[in-house]
Amino acid sequence: MRAVILISGNGSNLQSLIDNARKIDLKICSVISNKEDAFGLKRAERASIRTHFVDPNLYESREGFDKQLITMIDELDISLIILAGYMRILSSEFINHFAGKILNIHPSLLPKFPGLNTHRKAIDAKEKYHGATVHFVTEELDGGPIISQEIVEIDFIDTEYSLSQKVLKKEHILYPRVIHWYTQNRLKLLNTECITLDGKIL
Ligand code: GRF
Repeated sequence: MRAVILISGNGSNLQSLIDNARKIDLKICSVISNKEDAFGLKRAERASIRTHFVDPNLYESREGFDKQLITMIDELDISLIILAGYMRILSSEFINHFAGKILNIHPSLLPKFPGLNTHRKAIDAKEKYHGATVHFVTEELDGGPIISQEIVEIDFIDTEYSLSQKVLKKEHILYPRVIHWYTQNRLKLLNTECITLDGKIL
């Protein structure tokens, strides 16, 4: 299945998708970043994937920037948009244009800890467990229907950094697994609250 991946940074999730692409029937047509120095762009280039940096400073509004993304992505004729550490809020227009086709991975056990600094928040809240979530993207930030999660235990010696590494390791297994379901047409977003896997409501 043809897909585009949006990134803003290191791109370790992108790397796991590059490494698993053949196995999960994923054709990464392009990697787009809103940050020129995102290391993920280098990872994509190394894998001979087309890359684009779209400079937010050239657009007056979020809507203007996202319109440019919509035009670029429409030209690619893809069936899936994968957010992999993409640190910009998407406009309603973008989300509605690609409704049911956008997946995101978030470093917490949603609905706990949406937004930023999730590892810090989990430690401060003295949680026993933490993890990562893959969900469909809807207009509610980090609030779209949850598809699947991976859990890690928080040890008393864990720091924000050690916890982030533990969670990332799980993310690299979780995201390819869920994307494979999607590329096999097993996953569907019915409405903003409801998804099915193999026709059964999750
Ligand atoms: C991951 O923790 C992901 O859950 C979040 O941003 C981080 C991206 O990491 N959305 P990387 O760029 O894939 O290494």
